[in-house]
Order: sequence, then structure tokens, then C-alpha cells
Amino acid sequence: MTLAVCPGSFDPITLGHLDVVRRAADMFDRVIVGVARNTSKSYLFTDEERVDLARAATAHLGAVDVQLVPGLLAQFCKDAGANAIVKGLRGGADVDAEQPMALMNRHISGVETVFVLGDPALAHVASSLVKDVARYGGDVLDLVPEGVAHALPTALRRATAGIARPDSPRSPGVTA
Ligand code: PNS
Repeated sequence: MTLAVCPGSFDPITLGHLDVVRRAADMFDRVIVGVARNTSKSYLFTDEERVDLARAATAHLGAVDVQLVPGLLAQFCKDAGANAIVKGLRGGADVDAEQPMALMNRHISGVETVFVLGDPALAHVASSLVKDVARYGGDVLDLVPEGVAHALPTALRRATAGIARPDSPRSPGVTA
């Protein structure tokens, strides 16, 4: 049985992410969506919220499971027995960002990263832009799964009001 891990911040999961997960599920017997932490980003949603939103968005995909990656992605992939990491590319900037991570993950674990080109119709869909559109009252229903569209206003209000997220009592949720 072949297993792929689709890692990312998923803050929050978008239709672009889902497109990549679907493509991975077409190529591998099983897919784990790995909700991980990128130390260069601050998150709007808590770890648990990011996992829950990704779980709801992928519930209809039979061979797809969502898990929190608590530390190093390479170690998570080794422990899970993954055959590959699958990531989506929207353009050249993604290649530049992904190349060092793919090489580092292979160096640590021997696990290769397989890149798939997402649907060009979704090439503009990035979590950061979605949050910005939602923050200023724009419609995001055709950019994210329904559950995410409903969760965004509350999370944005929490961040704007400086209300601490459930997982970080001292600091409010701030988006990158
Ligand atoms: O969606 P993102 O933010 O581009 O995803 C990047 C992510 C979260 C996959 C990456 O930062 C990651 O793998 N984090 C887990 C910790 C880790 O393994 N860091 C070393 C990466 S080479």
C-alpha cells in the first residue's frame, strides 16, 4: 500500500489545497493531510481548529486522513511509513520556497517530495489572501470549503479584538 503525506499550514485549508489532496489521492492508496507548523508564520486558527477544518473539508474523500504534525515533518513521514510527500505548485515562487524544504526532508528522511501542478483556475488561491479578502468583508465562498467560510468571521473577530486563542492564553491570534 502506498502512502503520501500532504503537509502544510492549512491556516485555513482552501480549495487549492483540496485540489492537491485529490490529485495525491488519485496517485496513492492513502493520503495523510499533515497539519504542521511553519515557524516563519503566525496562525489565525489554532492547531486543533486547522485540523478540524481540514478534517471536515476532506471527510468525503475516502482514503484521506488528517493528522497534526507535532514536530519535524521528515520524522512524521518516517514514523508513518510514507512513500512520498506531495505538495502543489502554483508558480515559480512556490518552486523557490519548496525546493530547500524538499531537499532538507529528503536529506533527513530519504522521503522524496512529489510536486503536482494544481488547477490553474485556483492558482491565485492562497490562505493569506483568503484571510485578507475575508478580513475586509469580501466573499470567499468560492475559494474555501463551506466550513472554513463560516469559521473565518469568528476567527478574524477574535484576532481583531485581541482575544486570546484557546491555545495561547497570552497572545492573540495574529495572521501572517
Ligand atoms: O503551508 P506551508 O506553511 O508552506 O507549509 C510549510 C510546512 C508547515 C509544511 C513546513 O514549515 C514544515 O514542514 N513544518 C514542520 C516542521 C519541519 O519539519 N520543518 C523543517 C522543514 S524542511
